[in-house]
Amino acid sequence: METLTGMERTNNCGELRISDVGKEVRLAGWVSRRRDHGGLIFVDMRDRSGLVQVVFDGSTQGLDFAKAETLRNEFVLGVRGKVRARSEDTINPKMATGEIEILVEELRILNRAKTPPFYIQDGVDVDEMVRLRYRYLDLRRPEMQKNIILRHRVTKIMRDYLDEQGFLEIETPMLCRSTPEGARDFLVPSRLNPGQFYALPQSPQIFKQLLMVSGFEKYFQIVRCFRDEDLRADRQPEFTQLDIETSFLNQDQLLTIMEGLIKKIFETTLDVKVETPFLRMSWDEAMTRFGSDKPDLRFGMELQDISEFVKGSDFKVFNSVLENGGQVKVIRVDDYANIPRRELDNLVEYVKIYGAKGLAWIQYTEEGVKSPFKKFYSDETFDAIKQATGCKTGDLLLVVGDKASVVAQALGELRLEMARRRNLIDADKLCFLWIVDFPMFEYVEEDKRYKAMHHPFTSPREEDIDLLLTAPEKVKANAYDIVLNGVEVGGGSLRIYRRDVQEKVFEAIGLTPEEAYAKFGFLMDAFEFGTPPHGGIAFGLDRLIMLMAKRKSIRDVIAFPKTQSAIDPMSHAPSEVDDKQLRELSIRTAVKKK
Ligand code: AMO
Ligand code: AMP
Repeated sequence: METLTGMERTNNCGELRISDVGKEVRLAGWVSRRRDHGGLIFVDMRDRSGLVQVVFDGSTQGLDFAKAETLRNEFVLGVRGKVRARSEDTINPKMATGEIEILVEELRILNRAKTPPFYIQDGVDVDEMVRLRYRYLDLRRPEMQKNIILRHRVTKIMRDYLDEQGFLEIETPMLCRSTPEGARDFLVPSRLNPGQFYALPQSPQIFKQLLMVSGFEKYFQIVRCFRDEDLRADRQPEFTQLDIETSFLNQDQLLTIMEGLIKKIFETTLDVKVETPFLRMSWDEAMTRFGSDKPDLRFGMELQDISEFVKGSDFKVFNSVLENGGQVKVIRVDDYANIPRRELDNLVEYVKIYGAKGLAWIQYTEEGVKSPFKKFYSDETFDAIKQATGCKTGDLLLVVGDKASVVAQALGELRLEMARRRNLIDADKLCFLWIVDFPMFEYVEEDKRYKAMHHPFTSPREEDIDLLLTAPEKVKANAYDIVLNGVEVGGGSLRIYRRDVQEKVFEAIGLTPEEAYAKFGFLMDAFEFGTPPHGGIAFGLDRLIMLMAKRKSIRDVIAFPKTQSAIDPMSHAPSEVDDKQLRELSIRTAVKKK
């Protein structure tokens, strides 16, 4: 194989332009594609900056053309040659460098390559397992490089912006104490303390609060977090947060700094305009209007309540729902009264996934109203519903009756599904909003107890503190989520900084003072040494980049992600370990070795 010596690169492939014509350049990169025209070979050469066409002409003085004939995809080359303009009819407007090409005078083959398992180009249709098995090749594809480069740019802007705002980047431990109240922990056995375990952090929550006790006032960290949860397209077992904590700011001041950060990130990297301040919507309003605490505001189709119109009839389904304190709500799908029956049946199955017992509809067609509950109501009632929901002839209402939480979930999901099916989502729109005034607790049916909706360090609203033990379901928290296009990209809260309030919250979630102290004692102790009012937020970096890069999965913006079943098909993690390793850790596994 040859070396680069004397052929050190002078230019990047993707940056050459018509103004470079006549220059001698030395390039280094990979063969992306080659076309052999007998005495002429064209190669699209690739480096990180992009592609350029290089030409090997058999009649070029001093060129080893036989060597050029051996080139294959993904060989690594160094070339020296002259930039020349392409003739009018060979200009490629799809390539940034499409107006020029390099006539090669000297070629060095720096390395050969086996035929890769898939083409190294954008939009390849390969199974994701194969892409992950050969992730280093997948990452060679321009669209993947773009995502990773975008990620770098964004974290750089985060650091610069927060530094300008007086924030300090401080690291916190990866080997922590396991604490309850959250997702499942990843555990690490301690060799030096047999039978004991560290937990990998689900977030640096407690440490960042302690840093406020220490007086650092403004902290941030771009930090890996670990949660042993069931995975989805927007969830990984290890993911990255931009984690932030501040002292002495009220909620409005904090959110304003965060809006400035988001604006800066989007405007600098995507060249789009982001209007601030963002819309702020209470959790109650979001659930009522959109059936979701992360509403996608790129389209309407809001949930509307028709309980008033359908109550007191002979229709048993709605009657029993309303008598049991439930509600009957609809979404309006414009110009879709002629929805095929087959699709309606399919939608019935769809809402069942989300706990609804059924789905009904009203079709306002030219031929009149069609509905499974038509015979139970007068024409006037259907007219009144039509008016109230803003329907015109030709529109469709999809109807769910149940208790409020089921209606919200079923219709909220149906709203998203219908928007996708009817193509109502403008992919270029950016709809940011804050969801505020979250409930402090949610009731966990299984455990028959309340659980903190955000985390138990979140402060209840001052005026609700007295309700903590008497009516926990009524308590609202000083908590907020930031939502972009229907995805929760961040969340945080103002924290409790008084020990008495913290103890009440622990009590409300069913922890005795002894249990609470055993688990969070170090934090409660710290709170007695002059804790400032403080609050913070964490952004899901992977999710943010996923949305910026317009990808459907966070795996596309993480260099080396795990699959849905939490494995790495490239390095084959997780794996079994030697008995000796286990013995050192005082661990025995109950699983038989394969
Ligand atoms: P929270 O648990 O809401 O808050 O997490 C903050 C943000 O992190 C992202 N996120 C994830 N991204 C990918 N994979 C996951 N498994 C995953 N889980 C969460 C989401 C989410 O909005 N300590 C608090 C923050 C605070 O109160 O300051 C916390 O971790 O985008
Ligand atoms: P059933 O009495 O279960 O056969 O239901 C009669 C009709 O009521 C069904 O065809 C559905 O259209 C509708 N329906 C049933 N359950 C619900 C529900 N929870 N919400 C809305 N419509 C329902």
